[in-house]
Amino acid sequence: MEKTAAMSQKRRVLTGITTTGTPHLGNYVGAIRPAIAASRRDDVESFYFLADYHALVKCDDPARVQQSTLEIAASWLACGLDPDKVFFYRQSDIAEIPELTWFLTCITAKGLLNRAHAYKAAVDQNAATGEDADAGITAGLYMYPVLMAADILMFNANDVPVGRDQVQHIEIARDIAQRFNHIYGGDYFVLPQASIEENVATLPGTDGRKMSKSYDNAIPLWLSASELKKAILGIVTDSRAPGEPKDPETSNLFAIYRAFASAAETEAMRRAFADGIAWGEAKQRLFERIDAELAPARARYEALIARPQNIEERLRAGAEKAGKRSRESMERLRFAVGVRRLTDMPTPAKRSGSSASRSEAPLPQIKRYREADGKFYFRLADGDGATLLQSRAFDSPRDVGRIADALVDASGDVGQIAGLIKEALPIDASADPSLVSGALARLKADKLAREEARR
Ligand code: TRP
Repeated sequence: MEKTAAMSQKRRVLTGITTTGTPHLGNYVGAIRPAIAASRRDDVESFYFLADYHALVKCDDPARVQQSTLEIAASWLACGLDPDKVFFYRQSDIAEIPELTWFLTCITAKGLLNRAHAYKAAVDQNAATGEDADAGITAGLYMYPVLMAADILMFNANDVPVGRDQVQHIEIARDIAQRFNHIYGGDYFVLPQASIEENVATLPGTDGRKMSKSYDNAIPLWLSASELKKAILGIVTDSRAPGEPKDPETSNLFAIYRAFASAAETEAMRRAFADGIAWGEAKQRLFERIDAELAPARARYEALIARPQNIEERLRAGAEKAGKRSRESMERLRFAVGVRRLTDMPTPAKRSGSSASRSEAPLPQIKRYREADGKFYFRLADGDGATLLQSRAFDSPRDVGRIADALVDASGDVGQIAGLIKEALPIDASADPSLVSGALARLKADKLAREEARR
């Protein structure tokens, strides 16, 4: 293939925001702020989009979808996202996304979607209440991961910053990408990976649990100063009196403060806790710190939200910019699957280019062997020989073969892999599931390529 997915040198970072709600401080700290900081780097291309098609899966209130789209777009812009530097668009403005969704739908194993957490949870819920398995479940919920894969694969994203609850969706997107590449014989899609910001991923809410709209413990991002102060006064603390030392490690107030403060400010607050700062005083300092960070953005937000036409134009411009990429990709993909002009004839397949680049890095290996104890074992090692998984003892080579083969075949299905790893490991051992599944994915791709060559 003359054009491969790895065309551009920059890493592509992409994430979508479902347009069903009003942004809160947790969204700001966990997603908006780090994404905007990352978008300023010169070695990445950032794609941020408003996932309004995904919103339809969860929400059938049109006014809410529209209002949320406006608020989220205004929030990102107010917080400093530079639409000239990034791709900032609305999912529904990219006509190629539903088209790609269909292409992907046609090669996605139904069984893969049966195992998606959100769908499975809905089915389990029905089972628990004695309902029909599919009661109240839409095909939209079922297809959600495929639409998400189309979002990601359309722009060949390398990294997808998401919360933990979305990791399985990225694994599904990888699996779908791999399958498409295999079936149509080319490096059409980059295999995306989830990236999770470990230290900022969970801001506690007012009650100490993860800040989330569904727990009713969220502080909205765009409160006026006085409303913000009131919300902060509502943060739950313990009953320690002024003068009594307080424990920063168990304090949600401290955790929220830390998410906004510099290292030096955090240290000062830690000392104040040890010195018995009154909760009222700590809340006042927290309010001042957050307000100092948000006040300038709040003014911009209010100006933006007052002019929806302005935001609409920026989103259209973003769609035009992103659309250049998606139209280009789609042309290649249509050709790949045979949706072609009758006058377009394929050039003789040149598959060697793509498989050569894949085979550059040494393949991971599964070594099967017998120990002096007469038992059988296997070891999964990465291309450099480092052990990723060391099995327990098995009584027969057949057992080893069964589980090792099953692991390779399961590649891409995190749930199944987790179960098999558990079966393969000694009781007290563990293995890094993302490294293991990455290695298995390469082994499976290699196996499929060899099977294909044999045909
Ligand atoms: N499903 C994601 C969420 O609920 C939103 C989303 C849609 C997304 N498409 C995406 C995230 C593509 C990352 C990449 O949070």
